[in-house]
Amino acid sequence: MVRFSPVVDRRAAAAALLPMLVAMSAAATESSASDLERRAQASRELIKEFAGALKRELKGALAEGGPLRAITACSAVAPAIAQQYSSQKGWRIGRTSLKPRNPANAPDRWERSVLESFERRRTAGEDPARMEFFEMVEQDGKRVFRYMKAVPTAEKPCLACHGSNIRPEVAAALDERYPEDKARGFRAGEIRGAFTITQPLPR
Ligand code: HEC
Repeated sequence: MVRFSPVVDRRAAAAALLPMLVAMSAAATESSASDLERRAQASRELIKEFAGALKRELKGALAEGGPLRAITACSAVAPAIAQQYSSQKGWRIGRTSLKPRNPANAPDRWERSVLESFERRRTAGEDPARMEFFEMVEQDGKRVFRYMKAVPTAEKPCLACHGSNIRPEVAAALDERYPEDKARGFRAGEIRGAFTITQPLPR
């Protein structure tokens, strides 16, 4: 009768198992990488729509009644549009900034660190128009997908309301509505803030 030593057995089993485990974990990494990319792509598409809707509102209001009229439109419409897109998808979508105008847009810890890394990337010469960052993170005990895309400052129309030479009546209207406004003094080419998306994952 042939007797196998249990030690040898276990070694043999491990040797047989190892390539299988390596293959399995490679497959898992691959599928999560493509899941990550799929979620990033869906985020980019939603942001395109969201940004387009914001731009239409801003343009329309500016054409109708200049920056004064557009402030009212921005403050009423921007959060409403964000809300609409958020509930449509079941995601959280919004805008944030290291220097927010609306304190409700202040970054959380993850957003702040991404915004700070965007600033470092800009200093290193990267174009803000192409900057994004995404990853899976643990949040309140749940894994979520988070995505951010930088919002560059254009001279027109942004500086009329976010620059250094804001018309006095526009500045007064901003003072009245946003007593904690930090979003002034920007220059063209700087990062005004970012779009931010959180996608809950299926359990
Ligand atoms: C007519 C004035 C006006 C113009 C022009 C304008 N904004 Fe704003 N912006 C506002 C107001 C008002 C808010 C606050 C909206 C809110 O309450 O959520 C705001 C908020 C933002 C935010 C969200 C973060 C924060 O500071 O609260 C970003 C990002 C932003 N603006 C980017 C831009 C960019 C980029 C442009 C140029 C394409 C631009 N804005 C042009 C008035 C303006």
